[in-house]
Amino acid sequence: MIPVAEPDIGEKEIEYVDDAVKSGWVSSHGKYIDEFEKEFSKFIGTEYGLTVSNGTAALHLALSALGITTGDEVIVPDLTFISPVNAVLYCNATPVLCDIDKNNWCIDPNKIRGLITDKTRAIIVVHLYGNSADMDQIMDIAKKHKLYVIEDTAESLGTTYKGKKLGSIGDIGCFSFYGNKTMTTGEGGFCTTNNKELYEKMTILRDHGMTSKKRYWHEFIGYNYRMTNLQAALGVAQLERINYFIARKHEIGKIYSERLKNMVTLHPEGIDYNGTYWLYSILMKNENERNDLMAFLYKNGIDTRRFFYPVHVMPPYKKYAKGEYLVSMDISKKGLNLPSGVKLQNGEIEYICSKIIEFLS
Ligand SMILES: Cc1ncc(COP(=O)(O)O)c(C=O)c1O
Repeated sequence: MIPVAEPDIGEKEIEYVDDAVKSGWVSSHGKYIDEFEKEFSKFIGTEYGLTVSNGTAALHLALSALGITTGDEVIVPDLTFISPVNAVLYCNATPVLCDIDKNNWCIDPNKIRGLITDKTRAIIVVHLYGNSADMDQIMDIAKKHKLYVIEDTAESLGTTYKGKKLGSIGDIGCFSFYGNKTMTTGEGGFCTTNNKELYEKMTILRDHGMTSKKRYWHEFIGYNYRMTNLQAALGVAQLERINYFIARKHEIGKIYSERLKNMVTLHPEGIDYNGTYWLYSILMKNENERNDLMAFLYKNGIDTRRFFYPVHVMPPYKKYAKGEYLVSMDISKKGLNLPSGVKLQNGEIEYICSKIIEFLS
């Protein structure tokens, strides 16, 4: 089977993890944690950054540090992996689902405006499948209505919007390093920010709410959301190759777009952003065609993924629907993620495209 995504683990990764194990620093202190926090923040272009145990923890920590709580509303896209919606619910706040923009598959700023109430405190932007949301418009709305912006950048590591890396534009950027992501630490996550106060608050909340000045003295109810030095060792090695991973993602995207043009609706190209095709994705004519293509590719040894379901159709989230979600519904039915891991060979991409063309003819 050609997988949708697989990690690229090299010799350096093994060397650094081995070193971390042998050093005895196997929990959340150690040189790799310090180095990874410094280097990853530098790569994204923020002043501060902290490692966390996974991407969902990053989102929960970000919302907690912003003081999001009971009675607050947070606007989130209707087409997303479920984590940002759940993170809002972990804070006892209300997720307000917003439709997406057909041009980039991310939250639609024009629809955000109609959802703002006097309870709205924040917007979580999810940069989907390597794309970027329209950050200028979103930041303008946030400024006007005094809302926080969290960028869920789990799927768009390395994507730049008007030259800036995603995760450095909103108040807090959240990342995931799950094994299928552009770079991995096994499980793991990260929060980036330029705000010292938020950084300090997140650091305390990550470690049980314990103040840094007085051991075992808890100022807040916190969590254990720490990453281990072993995971960070993997992260440091992956980060050394991040520019190669991103360049290879671009190459893969280019080959797919070239081979499949005029056959299917291609993965969108940004005007304001340079996307990284975390998962190169296509849209078929309708749900049946998408499902049939998936089954055909599977029979031919090619794994693919359907797009996420619209959040508002799933039982626990139905009550958070506000209005219609025509774009989210439409794209969810038609969308297919193709194999996009950096270890994918050009010959394999050629084979995948030839099978898609065979199916269509
Ligand atoms: C958009 C998005 N946000 C958050 C997450 C959650 O990350 P994790 O699995 O590390 O908790 C993921 C996926 O893994 C994701 O795709």
